[in-house]
Amino acid sequence: MRKPVIAGNWKMYKTIAEAMDFIEKIVPVAAAARHCEVVVAPPFTALAAAALAAKGSKVAISAQDLYWDKEGAHTGDVSPTMIVDAGCTHAIIGHSERRHDHGETDEQVNRKLKAALAAGLTPIMCVGETLAQRESGGTGQVLKTQFEGGLAGLTPSDFSRIIIAYEPVWAIGTGRTATPEMAAESHHVLRDLARAKFGDKVADGVRILYGGSVKPDNIGGLMAQVGIDGALVGGASLKVDSFTSLINYPGA
Ligand code: 13P
Repeated sequence: MRKPVIAGNWKMYKTIAEAMDFIEKIVPVAAAARHCEVVVAPPFTALAAAALAAKGSKVAISAQDLYWDKEGAHTGDVSPTMIVDAGCTHAIIGHSERRHDHGETDEQVNRKLKAALAAGLTPIMCVGETLAQRESGGTGQVLKTQFEGGLAGLTPSDFSRIIIAYEPVWAIGTGRTATPEMAAESHHVLRDLARAKFGDKVADGVRILYGGSVKPDNIGGLMAQVGIDGALVGGASLKVDSFTSLINYPGA
């Protein structure tokens, strides 16, 4: 039985005070929501304060990125050790905005994943195709390349600690969601890739989240699909009311 994960990726939004206020309001909502795990990913500046506000609660705090070295001369980067020190348990890795804004490659995603695992974090690894790739029929190949490149050299036991997020780039922040059927098809492709690489048991256990314009009014249809194990939400995770509705999605 895969426990659903409802995760909010705040991207470059919220001050420390706003983050703490939000977390304090969402703590009782998460406590009452036995059906799912709740994860919130504030910006780096608010991680430690958010983790303090979430301490002892069911709200897990995630970084949005990390660097693979423990420490060193890497101006502007943040290490897995520092992220754990700030109170995080999760780290988003390979988000399409990092891939596009910062040229992040599958090889770098792979290094980040390994470093996150070594630090005891739960990585949330993002994959997904662009509109051009989908329209040219390349979705399956893109997912395969990102999956295999990002997860190269991992053992089944490493993989069992990872959460995957399928985020079609054309659906992110556009209001254009994949239909539940389209999303489910890609989730199926990803689970088959996991099956081939890591075996049935681990593939059946991995949580695959959908991300891309998830809102309170469309999450029910997505979560009703077999193989969609949660959501990674941007815009609709920024307001307490809408994040609360997402946590308590229809059918939960
Ligand atoms: P939106 O929900 O704003 O489309 O963002 C999705 C996303 O990128 C989550 O990581």
